[in-house]
Amino acid sequence: MYDFRPHAETPKPEAYRQLVDAADALTSGEPDGVANMANVAALLGDFLPDLNWAGFYRVIDGELVLGPFVGRPACIRIPLGKGVCGVAVSEGKTQLVEDVHAFPGHIACDAVTNSELVVPVSRKGAVIAVIDLDSPLAARFDETDAAGIEALAALLADRI
Ligand code: SME
Repeated sequence: MYDFRPHAETPKPEAYRQLVDAADALTSGEPDGVANMANVAALLGDFLPDLNWAGFYRVIDGELVLGPFVGRPACIRIPLGKGVCGVAVSEGKTQLVEDVHAFPGHIACDAVTNSELVVPVSRKGAVIAVIDLDSPLAARFDETDAAGIEALAALLADRI
């Protein structure tokens, strides 16, 4: 029904602007956070090449709980401070991991993952969720990816 995908030759910063615009259009005026996370997960899977997993974990009662995603079934609960996702919450900072096997405490939900980008979503100074992207490629993500997903996280802070 919707096809927001960028042309293959679109420069990456422009592709991320289009991604954020598409997420804005899909979530604007919709109060249901699950519906919004589900559509944004689908958008991430459509937009970004070379991913094996893209989705959300939510901070609920002091731990991370799996949210909407595209990809294979994943770990359901992650303690804060554990794994790449848990560290993104405890430090309140984006985690750009070129080689997950070198990240202390990385949680291997899928053995094919080699690199990962995790961006916190914060509301009123508290992390409420993370956006997690996994890739089978080594060093798949760079600072442009991090900045693009951080812009998406800022948009979603009041919509999930
Ligand atoms: N690898 C993540 C766990 C989530 S899955 O990749 C979907 C981590 O270390 O936190």
